[in-house]
Amino acid sequence: MFPVHRPRRLRTTPMLRDMVRETALSPDDFIYPLFVQETSSKPEPIESMPGQFRHTIETLVEQAEKTVEAGLKAILLFGIPEKKDEEGSQAYADNGIIQRAVRAVKKKNLPLLVITDVCMCEYTSHGHCGVIRNKDVDNDLSLDSIGRTALSQVRAGADIVAPSDMMDGRVGAIRDLLDSEGYSNVPILSYAAKYASSFYGPFREAAGSAPGFGDRKSYQMDPANIREALKEVQTDIDEGADMVMVKPALAYLDVIQAVKQFTDVPVAAYNVSGEYSMIEFAAKAGVLDRQKIILEVLQSIKRAGADIILTYHALEAAAWIK
Ligand code: PBG
Repeated sequence: MFPVHRPRRLRTTPMLRDMVRETALSPDDFIYPLFVQETSSKPEPIESMPGQFRHTIETLVEQAEKTVEAGLKAILLFGIPEKKDEEGSQAYADNGIIQRAVRAVKKKNLPLLVITDVCMCEYTSHGHCGVIRNKDVDNDLSLDSIGRTALSQVRAGADIVAPSDMMDGRVGAIRDLLDSEGYSNVPILSYAAKYASSFYGPFREAAGSAPGFGDRKSYQMDPANIREALKEVQTDIDEGADMVMVKPALAYLDVIQAVKQFTDVPVAAYNVSGEYSMIEFAAKAGVLDRQKIILEVLQSIKRAGADIILTYHALEAAAWIK
């Protein structure tokens, strides 16, 4: 009898569809990225990312509490300092914005992992992710600043550090320093396969971190490459990364899948600012069903192989899937 196979049978009712669904989102999957600044005494809405704010330490702590109430377990923090300089010295200042913010959140003793982004670009006057010498980002000099930044964040109480600078050798440099200072139990989530992507545009407006000259192509990856992503992942794991990230997510689902098959460490994917803002502005224009699109995107990222998803939609998505 034709047809023998009728895949539609298992799609007949919601109960059947629930039973055979292959991918399920959980609030445990999400990390919620948050910005904290010391440039204003009020939280500032980020125009390029409707619904997101540059928080004060006070409103950041409130957001951390809301994150826990939403059933989430982790936030990722970005600091926006009042003063930027050539070297990005506020990145590792003991009383820097991120260090003070981490202390304030940790003081609340919430059941929440505080992850810090380790990079120089929010702190340097030129907006590059490391130290500039002879008009170029000096890799090995940058490692020193990046290590110091990670250490100062951990001293402030960060539970996990997430280096996003893409310098060669940074995972090893951070691991060595943390170990020698007695922090051998603090995990590293490395932005291993981080592409030189235009999807970071809204973030750079939020953090005022667009490079003042040139671009990031001499350290972030060429979007055309996928084998190179596996090399970056391997290198970071060899240097001691506990978890690896692919970034961006939506235009790089093939990379997420390849990395998942390649490694046995947890794989994270960053649903970045441009991916967030495309949905927000399209929904504002009335051309997309916002909630359905957000859940479809997150599900796709998980289906591709992400164990962890960094998303600005984390709070709402957690509420919807409960
Ligand atoms: C810092 C950093 C960036 C993002 C995360 N960490 C910006 C960049 O590399 O230019 C982007 C996050 C996003 O777009 O949501 N290097």
